[in-house]
Amino acid sequence: MIYTFDKSLETGNAAIDAQHKELINAVNNLLEACAKGMGRAEIQSTVKFLADYTVKHFADEEKLQKQYNYPGYAAHKKLHDDFKTEVNAIIDDYVKDGATVALTFKINTKVAAWLINHIKGEDKKVAAFIKNGK
Ligand SMILES: [Fe+2]
Repeated sequence: MIYTFDKSLETGNAAIDAQHKELINAVNNLLEACAKGMGRAEIQSTVKFLADYTVKHFADEEKLQKQYNYPGYAAHKKLHDDFKTEVNAIIDDYVKDGATVALTFKINTKVAAWLINHIKGEDKKVAAFIKNGK
């Protein structure tokens, strides 16, 4: 499954949106690498990019929330931390068992679906708060 960054994912904050686009691309690249049965080095580099970019993006988003005194900061950060744990678990699965069907299923449900849901809900709230102060 390939995911598209369409209008429904736009938060209206250009910096956040650009990073979200990059994240969706990273998920697609990883899924494609698994689907095409690419070698370990390729899959590992796509999974590492996704993990590293997630850490960077969350740090930037959390910094922004702090800067604007976003009231939902602590709860939002907890969601980010749980997601990072999930991505690390997926990396461990990959290292242990390789690009299995179960792994692809997890990437679709625990990574892609989570991200899309999080962007549409929580991140849109953040962007609206930054824009309107509420
Ligand atoms: Fe977020």
